[in-house]
Amino acid sequence: MNSSVIIQFENVTKQYDQDRPVLDNVSFEIERGKFYTLLGPSGCGKTTILRLIAGFTEASSGDIYFNGKRINTLPANKRQVNTVFQDYALFPHLSVYENVAFGLRIKKMKEADIKVKVKEALQFVNLVGYENREITEMSGGQRQRVAIARAIVNEPEVILLDEPLSALDLKLRTEMQYELRELQRRLGITFIFVTHDQEEALAMSDEIFVINEGKIQQSGSPTDIYDEPINRFVADFIGESNIVKGTMVRDYLVEFTGKQFECVDQGLNPNEPVEIVIRPEDLEITSLEKGKLQVQVDSQLFRGVHYELSCYDNAGNEWLVHSTKKAAVGDQIGLYFEPEAIHVMRLGETEEEFDRRLEAYKDGEGE
Ligand SMILES: Nc1ncnc2c1ncn2[C@@H]1O[C@H](COP(=O)(O)OP(=O)(O)O)[C@@H](O)[C@H]1O
Ligand SMILES: [Mg+2]
Repeated sequence: MNSSVIIQFENVTKQYDQDRPVLDNVSFEIERGKFYTLLGPSGCGKTTILRLIAGFTEASSGDIYFNGKRINTLPANKRQVNTVFQDYALFPHLSVYENVAFGLRIKKMKEADIKVKVKEALQFVNLVGYENREITEMSGGQRQRVAIARAIVNEPEVILLDEPLSALDLKLRTEMQYELRELQRRLGITFIFVTHDQEEALAMSDEIFVINEGKIQQSGSPTDIYDEPINRFVADFIGESNIVKGTMVRDYLVEFTGKQFECVDQGLNPNEPVEIVIRPEDLEITSLEKGKLQVQVDSQLFRGVHYELSCYDNAGNEWLVHSTKKAAVGDQIGLYFEPEAIHVMRLGETEEEFDRRLEAYKDGEGE
């Protein structure tokens, strides 16, 4: 194993009773010092992954490694991990100081050392001067910071954050996104952050794992995932997309809306049914003749930076367009796009299957 890897899941399955597994044969690696986000809809298994890492629950099968050691049955208090819970789980009638000091007291650290550590942690989250306040006297954003101070004071190698911003209003949430990201950079600790909010994930992460129904659909940097979604679920979940059904005619040629288009995709079967994604900002408004697609404008909204148009082609497919040009509702317009703007997805394919397919294709090419 690569020495920068701090956590590794190998074919981890978690199943309660005889139900469908909550996590289904999940494998991934977490590298030291990066900001990771687990992103997916409610119930997809995000919290379960955190609980497995923290030691609050055990895997039904598979292996979990921390710094190269198998930790499947290692008790939670022996792990170099701290969790910031969704509701913060602070003690409401203890002071800020006592909340942060709590873990150190349990470790029976000397009072003088506790004082230094708590001060340091409060400095990190900008709460010096609030030591004697009770939690009930703190705002939502301040409570959030106390919860983080309480996690970092133990100097864990990894901090797990389970939807810590979801209770905050939009403005505060955006501020805290910056703060958390900054804090992670300054501390250099590995953060594993859970959210169901795709914009939050894109804004904050070095690496995102997109999860659905207990499986990692795709992992990668925010731009990787946004630009090259691997399947309909990811394309749909991350950002706005136009998704239509099509057929891969052969390498570099795809058919949809009854026409053939040059593209950059390869390695699928001839005439294989596929799904096509084109992002709204990759569609350009042109005259009817110059367009690769001909559509009618159904509605138009001004979004500040761009116009958002909803258009329909003859086959009844909707095409969302983000453009600085405007059109009029009812206009017949052309839509132009580059071959690179077309993303071809095999039906329901996950990342693992994609990688296997790419490998097989490369092997075939080399023969
Ligand atoms: N103790 C449990 N017993 C049975 N099912 C559970 C238990 N904990 C979680 N689940 C189920 O596992 C699935 C994933 O839960 P969870 O990891 O909390 O999802 P997320 O955090 O992504 O919303 C859900 O369907 C949930 O109902
Ligand atoms: Mg959860």
